[in-house]
Amino acid sequence: MREAKTILSGIQPSGLLTIGNYLGAMQHFVRLQDEADCYFCIVDYHAITLPQDPQELKENIRRLAALYLAVGLDPQKVTLFVQSDVPEHTELGWIMICQSHMGELERMTQYKDKSKKLKSIPVGLFTYPALQAADILLYQATHVPVGEDQKQHIELTRDLAERFNHRYGEVFVIPEPMIASFGARIMSLDDPTTKMSKSNPNENSYISMLDEPKVIEKKIKRAVTDSGHEIRFDPEEKAAISNLMTIYGQFTGQTMEEVEQHFKGCGYGQFKKELAEVVIDSLRPIQEKYREIYPSSELDRVLEEGAQKAREKAQQTLAKVKQALGVGLK
Ligand code: TYM
Repeated sequence: MREAKTILSGIQPSGLLTIGNYLGAMQHFVRLQDEADCYFCIVDYHAITLPQDPQELKENIRRLAALYLAVGLDPQKVTLFVQSDVPEHTELGWIMICQSHMGELERMTQYKDKSKKLKSIPVGLFTYPALQAADILLYQATHVPVGEDQKQHIELTRDLAERFNHRYGEVFVIPEPMIASFGARIMSLDDPTTKMSKSNPNENSYISMLDEPKVIEKKIKRAVTDSGHEIRFDPEEKAAISNLMTIYGQFTGQTMEEVEQHFKGCGYGQFKKELAEVVIDSLRPIQEKYREIYPSSELDRVLEEGAQKAREKAQQTLAKVKQALGVGLK
């Protein structure tokens, strides 16, 4: 018999989603909804670890919710909710902060990258991974599908859960990261040594899932390439082309050998033209569905129901945690 899997993953509503978010995370969520009990979260409390414009944040929450559905998540199969609608996240978040050590949080590479760009570092940016651990542990998730950049946070979650279980008894399921062996790290179009990211101030460095066809074409045309003119997969020697080939392969379902074969004898111009077509054609149905869903009241209903379902599970886990810790009188 198949072992029951519980999946949780989250995405920050801190800007327009990129094809990196889609290829590294969302496309796998869609596949997993038929295999497991799935919780997908819009992690707005994570987004506020850096200042956000309130109006824009609200809009980004709705956009992300609409995109979750537009890529094919079925609210009959998955629980889709906004983190701040389930206050148990911040409650368990505090408890997980109390399990965390300064040293292990200081080692988080995402914290190091983000904080070195700031004059004054918000404490929430530092304790962020403990809140992420709470997101996962509240639902007793067995698996956490994410892109490569989140691996360290999932490893920390495992350490915190093990530490808690060791001190207070077996309360938490220890989750496994689920990272695709390919496509889990899509790089910037302007610099193949940095991750494609929605928070990059250079808009030409990423393709947003809602970019117009013309914009996609222009961004791909401008994408940096490597010396030579061969379409060959070689992440060491040809990092930029290998990244573009990965995007092509992910959207078409082709292996790198197949992509090489397909573009044998072609130059970068022809490759980029076909790549733009593939990205545009793949995003078109998602964008059409998105435009239908975004203004609908159905979206509000889905999120309300999702929050209710998520709360039921979250409350059960939190009650066990509090009991084990000895806080409160109940
Ligand atoms: P976030 O919002 O930065 O990214 C959401 C998901 O997209 C993946 N991703 C990528 N994958 C491949 N290539 C890229 N260039 C790329 N950029 C982003 C991320 O790995 C992630 O899976 N801390 C998390 C959000 C979070 C979370 C959670 C995730 C909060 N609580 C609980 C899982 C479980 C974050 O900032 O992801």
